[in-house]
Amino acid sequence: MNVIPRYLVPFHPKRIPHHFADVLIIGGGIAGLRAAMEIDPRLSLLVITKDTMEQSNSAYAQGGIASVIDPDDNFASHVEDTLVAGANLCDRDVVEMVVREAPPHIRQLIEWGTKFDTEKGELMLGREGGHSHRRIVHALGDATGHEVMRAIIEQVRTKNDSQLWPNTFTIDLLTHEGRCRGALVWHARHGRTFIWAKQTILCTGGAGQIYRETTNPEVATGDGHALAYRAGAELRDMEFMQFHPTVLYIAGGSRSLITEAMRGEGARLVDANGRRFMLDYDERAELAPRDVVSQAIVAQMEKTRQPNVFLDLSHLEAEKVRKRFPGIARTCAEFGIDIATDPIPVRPGAHYMIGGVTVDHEGRTTVPGLWAAGEVTSSGLHGANRLASNSLLEGLVYGTHAGAGASALALAEDDSFQAIPLENAVAQPREEPLDLVDIRNSLKSLMWRSAGVQRTGPQLADAGRTIRRWCGYVLARQFNDPEGWELQNMLTVARLMVETALAREESRGVHYRTDFPQADDEHWRRHLVVQRK
Ligand code: SIN
Repeated sequence: MNVIPRYLVPFHPKRIPHHFADVLIIGGGIAGLRAAMEIDPRLSLLVITKDTMEQSNSAYAQGGIASVIDPDDNFASHVEDTLVAGANLCDRDVVEMVVREAPPHIRQLIEWGTKFDTEKGELMLGREGGHSHRRIVHALGDATGHEVMRAIIEQVRTKNDSQLWPNTFTIDLLTHEGRCRGALVWHARHGRTFIWAKQTILCTGGAGQIYRETTNPEVATGDGHALAYRAGAELRDMEFMQFHPTVLYIAGGSRSLITEAMRGEGARLVDANGRRFMLDYDERAELAPRDVVSQAIVAQMEKTRQPNVFLDLSHLEAEKVRKRFPGIARTCAEFGIDIATDPIPVRPGAHYMIGGVTVDHEGRTTVPGLWAAGEVTSSGLHGANRLASNSLLEGLVYGTHAGAGASALALAEDDSFQAIPLENAVAQPREEPLDLVDIRNSLKSLMWRSAGVQRTGPQLADAGRTIRRWCGYVLARQFNDPEGWELQNMLTVARLMVETALAREESRGVHYRTDFPQADDEHWRRHLVVQRK
């Protein structure tokens, strides 16, 4: 791992402006903004996001938030469903804690103005794969993330102690004597800035853009994973990328998510011959956990030699379907597909990064002064396969914990904290121009082919060699803008993913090795940890 430098750019304290905040939050998805709401108003708070406040993976969530709401449902069942989906790798204490904290978070979101879908004054509850009850709270039919983020952004904007800096790219976390002291950031207008913070919370989301096929927006390039790694934080479970079974597959069209809630409402998966196939693979059929459905779809695509399968809702009541899934209906209509009558072409795509920065129950990482919450972390909730609609929930619970913990420590610190004379040298300049777009696209294709829904040792080993070679010349350079830094982050994360996927010689949850098709509890019922020395 020695080609991965500690810092991506050169810097000197006399040449870069300095900014101070008691608490710095990096990332404006649900975890980051929920953390922001916990920061004591006596503290100065700065929230930075790489794009606009509205662009985060959270805003794209369709299905909803899992929570025990129905009196016939119970915590034990939500816990059990999470543990079963997680394939023997969840931390039971974490699962119990998160499941129990879910209902008050839903009530709080409602108090903050979130308009969840209701019927006769009661919350409507959807069902998704792996859940044994209807317990998915949703909004605007299939745009839960959009509605929840609208409400929470409004709350944070009216919180008078918060400063929001959109369009601010975090280049690196600053560490001194083993502690996180803030971050070096870049803004299109202001250039590079040191942000010195008493406490820093990392909530940068996922890494789906490392794959050619993904439901994730452009911003999800694994930056937080890479910068935590460079700063010496422990990461684990990097081999576990979750593939969503049903991503719209239309050549030339965007790979939009087709929510699992559709299958919860009775949609069927059929192959190119119109044959319903899920029962050949699992008795839970379309409502089996995601890893099972993704594997079945890939197997059926191979059997039929087709690039996709189809979701079929034509047996359901047409008006009800269009009303329940208005966003997907609009997207599909642009390609001439009526979701109520026409089969929707789908196949799996990278969706959710399960692996990430190790955090304890409170959201503390292994680097003092650095907290983390949401998709960038590995908290122990998801095990080897995340249960549907547990991710916004994790963002809410851990955002709250990390925000409260960071706030308490920042309050306890005195105000004499100062800039630290950190510097990083200029690297040897390289003359040969690099086509960054070409490397990025090649990486995405390589990851899809070699570290996708199905993996084998030889393919992973080959991919590892190729990525290390690319790292050798891309990471040795110092770039001046986010295009270069993003690529460096993507290469770093891809390398960790491929190396851990090669090491884990078994199949578990979302990690399916065709050369080791069984789970091997004796040797592999454990986390794989990576840390930069
Ligand atoms: C979906 O709507 O299918 C995605 C929900 C999730 O990823 O939990």
